Amino acid sequence: MKPHRILLIIFILLGELTATGQTDRGSKMETYINSLMSKMTLEEKIGQLNLPSVGFDITGPILSKDVEQKISKGLVGGLFNTYTPDAIRKLQDKAIKETRLKIPLLFGYDVIHGHKTIFPIPLGMASTWDLPLIEQAARAAAAEASADGLNWVFSPMVDIARDPRWGRVSEGAGEDTWLGSQVAKAMVRGYQNQDLSNPSSVMACVKHFALYGAAEAGRDYNIVDMSERKMQEYYLPPYKAAIDAGAGSVMSSFNEINGVPAAANKWLLTDLLRKKWGFTGMVATDYTAIMELMNHGLGDESKVAELAIKAGDDMDMVSEFYLNQLKKLVETKSLDVSYINQACKRVLEAKYKLGLFDDPYRGVSNERAAKEIMSADKLALSKEAALKSMVLLKNDHHILPLQSTSKIAFIGPMVKDQRDLIGNWSGAGDWRKAISLWDALQRQYPGNNFAYAKGASITDDTILLNKLNRFGAEILPDAQSPARLIEEAVRTAGKADLIVAFLGESCTMTGEASSRSEISIPESQKALLKALKTTGKPIILLLMNGRPLTLGWEDETVDAIIETWFGGTRSGEAIADVIFGKYNPSGKLTMTFPRTVGQIPIYYNAKNTGRPFNENEKFTSKYLDISNTPLYPFGYGLSYTTFDYSPISLNKTTINASDKLEATITITNNGKIDGEETAQLYVRDMVGTVTRPVKELKGFKKVYLKAGESKRLTFTLTAEDLKFYDIRMKYTNEPGAFKLFIGTNSNDVKEAEFNLAL
Ligand code: BGC
Repeated sequence: MKPHRILLIIFILLGELTATGQTDRGSKMETYINSLMSKMTLEEKIGQLNLPSVGFDITGPILSKDVEQKISKGLVGGLFNTYTPDAIRKLQDKAIKETRLKIPLLFGYDVIHGHKTIFPIPLGMASTWDLPLIEQAARAAAAEASADGLNWVFSPMVDIARDPRWGRVSEGAGEDTWLGSQVAKAMVRGYQNQDLSNPSSVMACVKHFALYGAAEAGRDYNIVDMSERKMQEYYLPPYKAAIDAGAGSVMSSFNEINGVPAAANKWLLTDLLRKKWGFTGMVATDYTAIMELMNHGLGDESKVAELAIKAGDDMDMVSEFYLNQLKKLVETKSLDVSYINQACKRVLEAKYKLGLFDDPYRGVSNERAAKEIMSADKLALSKEAALKSMVLLKNDHHILPLQSTSKIAFIGPMVKDQRDLIGNWSGAGDWRKAISLWDALQRQYPGNNFAYAKGASITDDTILLNKLNRFGAEILPDAQSPARLIEEAVRTAGKADLIVAFLGESCTMTGEASSRSEISIPESQKALLKALKTTGKPIILLLMNGRPLTLGWEDETVDAIIETWFGGTRSGEAIADVIFGKYNPSGKLTMTFPRTVGQIPIYYNAKNTGRPFNENEKFTSKYLDISNTPLYPFGYGLSYTTFDYSPISLNKTTINASDKLEATITITNNGKIDGEETAQLYVRDMVGTVTRPVKELKGFKKVYLKAGESKRLTFTLTAEDLKFYDIRMKYTNEPGAFKLFIGTNSNDVKEAEFNLAL
């Protein structure tokens, strides 16, 4: 027999064995859980649906009283906001040793971009366009979190966001549906590691279902009103991708969708999620979301509990409305007990899949935690991620990279800052373990010619400071007056050859409940930059922030700009490496940077309109006072070298449903420094029964090129990649003309044309 036939047979047999294995496991789980549930009282079943917070109060009030007693009584299904082997063992002991049926607890936590080894914020991680790296980072986070006793992470956040006023854009992968879907899958794979019962896996929780990123006016928790077409085309695919990748749980979101809050939205949580998409895992609400249904105006405590369980929320995070209301609802016949049975079953299934019935502690120990947490390999990965996440936005006359022997004035509130480096939602991360840029410089370049001045506080706006500090920001106004700080900075800068200004947002200015109506660098720091400009010295601007900022003035004023995001535990060292050229930046933006707030929402995959932009014609779709173009488009990011793209060559100009279109391009590094490029593939459907975006990302390739080196890259597209929701909302192909683009960002591309014939 020919070798490939033997291989084929092995594959088929393996496939069958796996399928049989899964069915076996499935039926074993069914039997186990049915038998367990047959012993449970109604109260115990309802208890499984209760998800209180213990420990810290991060995003809202801790409502649950006497959690430990409730655990002993079997009135808690899972907990969040606590970790460490000792704390977890103690609480799990209660469930295992003190409850009647010894059902283990779930332990969840917001592990968003690392557990203790902190990686760049998700928006920064996405800017690496490095899916294997994103997966490895999620794996590392899972290994640490599980060693610290956790078995469930409230991540990935896959909300598509087109409005940088919304503070939570920092928690997601940006504006693109296709890229967001790839990132979602990579993160789920990384967390769950193929088998949830592996003690180093954690269950992912895809959030916030759904459309939370489209909150009106970028104001957190605000309403969402959206056509079904827009949902299906742009916003829903990343959730679906995460679910298809096997995510064990979903979190329903705070926002309403077309008048019905997600937590009470049966269409969303049952008809779409379960019936259409086939999701079989567990749904938890967001923090106090059931209680908030009363504020939304859906009824009293009893009514909203009924609505939530009927809609499809299995676990009630923090509200304890299930605990207090469901039994009465069953007794008064307002609720069929089958809803409770179903939700309880899903919670128990999650526990079963995590192996908690075999080992409720999942091998947690202080020794394992010590070995896993902040291990050398994870710290190295965090530095690699920080390096790859940085985006070079401007580099006039190749001023970067700098010589480490130069006299450089490092100015700005971020230079010695450790706290902000690890960003918002850095959960269990300890900012004291992060090395500031200044410390990294001292370690790497002893005896250097570097000088430092703070120059400004992050903000002098006392109203803002009070708001931020109330929630743990700890931003202290400097003892010196703003004028003195600037004076000192200008004096320091005057003695240097060039200035590196490190400015930006405090990490608490982004993230949850941190929407901003102006998204510029705070005034105190802008004033500093203006003063530095008067020295006439070249200025390199480093930015630390968690959202696209409006940087029009800065872009005109300074010589170079690097976006460093909140880069995590090893960010300071990574920034030093980038400034001095030990690493050539390769990150690309995954969210458009607008020129002004007035352009928002602004995104690359827009529609053409009937009167497309034309500067010279009055009656076209534009502003009188500003161009339509963004400051930096989606996919944008420079390198210390330059890459040249050849014209595109296609293997065919017409493809049919089963063909493969191959688009080939040669990329040449025509600079003097080795570097990595991310070549992006976009398409445009020229004619349809409905309007199509002017560009849609369909793929990308990363290529490392030595100075002077060229490589051919071939992208493959099939009819499947060209499908969309037609006039009848059917996901299908329509024949006709397409444009295909390949380039260094969404704006700067080569172009070719082809036809789809069906
Ligand atoms: C956030 C979620 C988070 C939850 C638990 C909420 O306020 O919206 O993203 O997972 O709190 O901390």
